Amino acid sequence: MAEPIRVVITGAAGQIAYSLLYSIAKGDVFGKDQPIVLILLDIPPMLPVLDGVVMELQDCALPLLREVIPTDKVEVGFKDIDAAILVGSMPRKEGMERKDLLKANVAIFKTQGAALDKYAKKTVKVLVVGNPANTNCLIASKSAPSIPKENFSCLTRLDHNRACSQVAMRCNVSSDAVKNVIIWGNHSSTQYPDVHHAKVKVQDSELPAYDVVKDDAWLRGPFISTVQQRGAAVIKARKLSSAMSAAKAICDHMRDIWFGTKEGEFISMGVYAAGNSYGVPQDLMYSFPVCIKNKMWKIVDGLPINDFSQAKMDATAAELVEERDTALDFLSQ
Ligand SMILES: NC(=O)c1ccc[n+]([C@@H]2O[C@H](COP(=O)([O-])OP(=O)(O)OC[C@H]3O[C@@H](n4cnc5c(N)ncnc54)[C@H](O)[C@@H]3O)[C@@H](O)[C@H]2O)c1
Ligand SMILES: *[C@@H]1O[C@H](CO)[C@@H](O)[C@H](O)[C@H]1NC(C)=O
Ligand SMILES: *[C@@H]1O[C@H](CO)[C@@H](O)[C@H](O)[C@H]1NC(C)=O
Ligand SMILES: *[C@@H]1O[C@H](CO)[C@@H](O)[C@H](O)[C@H]1NC(C)=O
Repeated sequence: MAEPIRVVITGAAGQIAYSLLYSIAKGDVFGKDQPIVLILLDIPPMLPVLDGVVMELQDCALPLLREVIPTDKVEVGFKDIDAAILVGSMPRKEGMERKDLLKANVAIFKTQGAALDKYAKKTVKVLVVGNPANTNCLIASKSAPSIPKENFSCLTRLDHNRACSQVAMRCNVSSDAVKNVIIWGNHSSTQYPDVHHAKVKVQDSELPAYDVVKDDAWLRGPFISTVQQRGAAVIKARKLSSAMSAAKAICDHMRDIWFGTKEGEFISMGVYAAGNSYGVPQDLMYSFPVCIKNKMWKIVDGLPINDFSQAKMDATAAELVEERDTALDFLSQ
């Protein structure tokens, strides 16, 4: 059997982690023959809760799970780490200004980035989930200069999966019959879910999503707003934010980094924009269509983009530029 890999999850006492840990520990992400040491990082007041999570993981009796280490210290949490899933962040509190929230998150992701830089393996793969995910990811990467910035990504796979499912339900096919949807930009209501390049499999042939759906008005209107507003709709109904579906998306994202995407398919994730794809300004973490091979992602370039799409891609980029600039001011303070 392989040597165990070390995986840290931050925000490990929270609700996403509660749905996520079981899937990781039973081999859904890193493979059915890959032993795992799980490190659970949270803040000091949550340590008693973490103890409960550790007990439950033990009680699952999972053969791949070699050790579970609960901690509130980054130097323990990030030591020799192979994969880091950064879920914990500062939530918005009643009456909190947007700027103050961003400032608190910059402080968290600066600390965690610096700890990754100092203690993690240089090949570590870092996935940022805690919001604002794109900007937190950029801050963590900038605070870890010795780790390639390509090894940082942020989660838009939940939005991607939501878009796949909406199209699948509309076409009356299973969700795996839909491929190559794209989420562009920020993980927020300005994201642009784009199906101009998506394919739907109907009775063994793959057809353009627009041709199968046969309802351009729906695709350009209610489809986009449903995906953009889905997080808010779940909160309204559940009185809690998406957790089960977020955990599933985290698994999909990390498994694709580990094992690669399927031939001829691309998925969406927030990655470093170097300034030469689709007019997206450089030095942002922006969600693009990517293919992954040998643990390396590549932006799918050269897709034809119409004016409708370009305007939406530019708008979500502008939002990210503004947030980055404010965050970088805090980082340098
Ligand atoms: N990118 C996405 O698609 C996506 C989807 C869903 C949720 N989210 C975000 O994921 C985050 C977690 O969601 P949740 O529902 O699990 O929240 P939660 O409040 O249930 O859990 C968050 C946990 O993070 C911990 N935490 C806070 N600061 C920390 C720090 N500095 N170090 C370690 N742990 C820390 C908290 O103590 C808490 O246990 C939120 O920011 C949420 O907005 C992102
Ligand atoms: C969806 O497909 C199933 C099985 O092929 C079929 O029974 C059902 O009538 C279809 N529904 C619609 C709305 O087309
Ligand atoms: C980008 O998306 C995140 C996550 O939803 C959100 O918190 C943030 O406010 C958005 N950025 C801007 C500038 O609106
Ligand atoms: C991460 O960095 C390593 C070099 O340390 C590199 O080999 C690998 O391809 C990078 N991963 C990604 C996803 O780009």
